[in-house]
Amino acid sequence: MAENNRLGFTSSLGAILAAAGGAVGLGNIWRFPYMLGQNGGGAFLLVYVLFVLLIGIPLMMTEFVIGRRAQSNVVGAYKKLGGGKKRWMALGVFGVLAALMIYAFYSVVAGWTLNYVVLSCGGKLQGLDAAAVSGVFADFTQGSFWPLFYQFLFLALTGLVITMGVQKGIEKVAKILMPVLFILLLLMCVRSLTLSGAAKGLSFLFKPDFGKINGSVVLSALGQSFFSLSIGMGAMVTYGSYIRKEDNLVKTSVWIAVCDSLVAILAGVVIFPAVFAFGMNPSSGPELVYIVLPNVFNSMPAGTLFAVVFFLLLTIAALTSTISLLEIIVAFAVEELHWKRGTASLACTLLVFLLGISCTLSFGPMKDFTLFGRTVFDLFDLLTASYIMPIGALLMTIFLGWCFPKVEVMDELTNGGRLKGRFVNLYYFILRYLAPLALLVILVSGIVG
Ligand code: PFF
Repeated sequence: MAENNRLGFTSSLGAILAAAGGAVGLGNIWRFPYMLGQNGGGAFLLVYVLFVLLIGIPLMMTEFVIGRRAQSNVVGAYKKLGGGKKRWMALGVFGVLAALMIYAFYSVVAGWTLNYVVLSCGGKLQGLDAAAVSGVFADFTQGSFWPLFYQFLFLALTGLVITMGVQKGIEKVAKILMPVLFILLLLMCVRSLTLSGAAKGLSFLFKPDFGKINGSVVLSALGQSFFSLSIGMGAMVTYGSYIRKEDNLVKTSVWIAVCDSLVAILAGVVIFPAVFAFGMNPSSGPELVYIVLPNVFNSMPAGTLFAVVFFLLLTIAALTSTISLLEIIVAFAVEELHWKRGTASLACTLLVFLLGISCTLSFGPMKDFTLFGRTVFDLFDLLTASYIMPIGALLMTIFLGWCFPKVEVMDELTNGGRLKGRFVNLYYFILRYLAPLALLVILVSGIVG
C-alpha cells in the first residue's frame, strides 16, 4: 500500500501488465497498421522504432518518476512537485483535457469493435462480397443509434472496471486480459504467415524504402509512438503513482515499451501478409481493419472463427486502454475534487459520452460539419496525437529536466540509491537536451511544413 492510504499495484508484474494494458490498444492494432500503410510501410516502422527507443522509453520513465514521486493524480502531481505554481498545474489540467478528448474519439472505434465481435459471432460478415462488406461498415458507422449504443456500452464497461478500483479493477483485469491478448495475437500471426503470398506483406512491413521518409512521415511516426505508448498527457503519471516504491522504473518502462512495440509489429504481421495475399489496398486508412480484414477473413478457411478471434483481440486491447484513459480523469476527480470513486466514474463516463456523441456522428449526420477542414473525430485524433501529446511531453521535459532538482530524479530512478542506475546519466541527457530539442524541431517542421 502506498502513502496516504492510496492503493497501488500489488506487484511488479501487476504494474507492468496494467501499464502495458494502457499502452497496448487500438493504437497498436487499428491505428498503427493504417498509419504505416499510408506512410510508406517499412520506412515508417523504422522511424517509429527509433522514436520509441530514443524518446519514448525516456519519456515514460519521466512520467513514472513524476507520478511515483508525487503519489498523486496528474494535476496533483504537478501541483506538488511544481511547488504549487499555476503554470505547472495547468500542464496537469492539459493532460486531463487531453484524456477527455482521446477517450471521446477512442470510444467510437472501441464501440465499432464491439459491434464487429457481435457481427462476426452471428456470421453476419460471412460470404459477403467486397461491396457488401463495405456496405455493412458504411451502414453501421453512418447511422446514429447503433454506433452510439455500442460506444455507450464500451464506456459503461470501462466505468464499471474503474469503479472497482486500482487493485480489484485495473490490475486484475489486466492480469487476465493481457495474456489472453498475446495468445490470440500469436494465433492470428500463425494463420496470416501460412497464407500463400504472405512474403509480399512482410516485405512491405519490414523493408524500408528510405525515399519515402519526409517531414510528415516523421511527424506521424512521432505522434504514433506517443499515442501508442500513452505518453505526453499523464496516463503514465497516474499509473506511475500506483507503482510500488521498490519496483525498478527503468526496467518497468523498458518492458512496457517492448510489449507495446511487439504488439504493434505483430499486428502488422497479422494484417499485411493477409492484405497482400488477397490483393487488398494497404493504404485504405482508418477503415483498414473493418473493411479490408473482413474480406480477407471471407476468403480464408475458417475465416469466421478468425474474424471472431481478431475482433475479440481488438476489444480486449481497447478495453485495457480505455481503463487507463478513464483512470486519469477519475483519479483527478477523486483526489482533487474529493468525489467518491463510483460517482466520479459515472460522472466522467457521462461527460465523455456527451463529448463523444459528436465524434460518433462525424461518420454520419455530422459528416459535413467540419472545423479546419476536418470532422470532429479527425480533429480530435490529429490534435491529440500529433500536437497535444508532443507539446505536453515537451513541457514535461522542461519541467523535470530544467525546473526540478536532479538529485530527486536520480533518487526516484535508483530507489534511493539501492539500484545501480547504469543508464540514468544517459537518461538525464536525453531528458534535458535530446528529447526537448527533437520534439521542438519535429513540431515546428510539422506545423510549418
Ligand atoms: N496507447 C493507447 C493505444 O495505443 O491504443 C491509447 C491511449 C491510451 C493514449 C491512454 C493515451 C492514453 F492516455
